Amino acid sequence: MSLSMATLSHFNISWMILGLVLVLLGAVAPQAEARAFFVFGDSLVDSGNNNYLATTARADAPPYGIDYPTHRPTGRFSNGLNIPDIISAQIGQPQPPLPYLSPELNGQKLLVGANFASAGIGILNDTGIQFLNIIRMFRQLDYFEEYQRRVSALIGVQKTRQLVNQALVLITVGGNDFVNNYYLVPYSARSRQFQLPDYVKYLISEYRKLLMRLYKLGVCRVLVTGTGPMGCVPAELAMRSTNGGCSAELQRAAALYNPKLVQMLREVNRKIGKNVFIGANTQQMHMDFISNPQAYGFTTSKVACCGQGPNNGLGLCTVTSNLCRNPQAIRVLGSVPSI
Ligand SMILES: *[C@@H]1O[C@H](CO)[C@@H](O)[C@H](O)[C@H]1NC(C)=O
Repeated sequence: MSLSMATLSHFNISWMILGLVLVLLGAVAPQAEARAFFVFGDSLVDSGNNNYLATTARADAPPYGIDYPTHRPTGRFSNGLNIPDIISAQIGQPQPPLPYLSPELNGQKLLVGANFASAGIGILNDTGIQFLNIIRMFRQLDYFEEYQRRVSALIGVQKTRQLVNQALVLITVGGNDFVNNYYLVPYSARSRQFQLPDYVKYLISEYRKLLMRLYKLGVCRVLVTGTGPMGCVPAELAMRSTNGGCSAELQRAAALYNPKLVQMLREVNRKIGKNVFIGANTQQMHMDFISNPQAYGFTTSKVACCGQGPNNGLGLCTVTSNLCRNPQAIRVLGSVPSI
């Protein structure tokens, strides 16, 4: 999600959100021929696009990837698999979709889908400007259009339309609009422009436009994640907590944003007359991990696995960071539930 939240998100959130994936995909049985899968959003779902960009938001060096099958960094902001990998496997794809910018994404591999996500981005264009060259949401959608032209050249317009209609889409964005924009620095431009409830309204109205554009590009089934309890991540505990508890301000932001998102999705579905957009309650699922980490195989939810400083929650995850003793133990969680 953000680089400062990264210490938690890279190593733990994938598994924290595993529950969401399993719940959502209960209804999606593996098929003989797997449907295509498209991914949009930020670092929680970036599988390596930023490797190809001049940006500081990257995960292409150790210890990223230490528990990935190749034990090498891939650009995923994770010690191992990320959420798109898990969803892809759940819908029966032999391989997860490649990053759209990967030179290997061509020919038949295009038919599996594509991952357009880029670490650091948000709903708003001005989110993540500190990371320089990243693929903002409007550009991810431009690339999706380009993708469809490329696939049309391969299998024809009609079959391409069908592939997109039947595809599963995941979109995970929004957290950075808080932690890497509104709350990035005291008196940020957006916080001077908007009171928090008005900022939330603005975000939701911009997000709605992005989703409508996505719908017009032909997709029919979209999982939309809300934000987790942003005030409880180790980075925010380190930077903002006064009493060891979650940051009240960021918790307030999540509490305002998530219900408004659900309401917006409901309205959009009503307007288009179909349940295209499915909201995922990441807040609740993630909160379960925060309040009862042991039940899910974590020692604690207050200390990041890769980082430095208080709560191991500051700065980037690099080769010189402190690493938790046994990150691969988290993998066990990933292999437990299967449908
Ligand atoms: C973001 O930037 C693109 C390209 O400049 C523009 O088309 C789009 O309207 C902008 N979005 C917002 C919300 O300003």
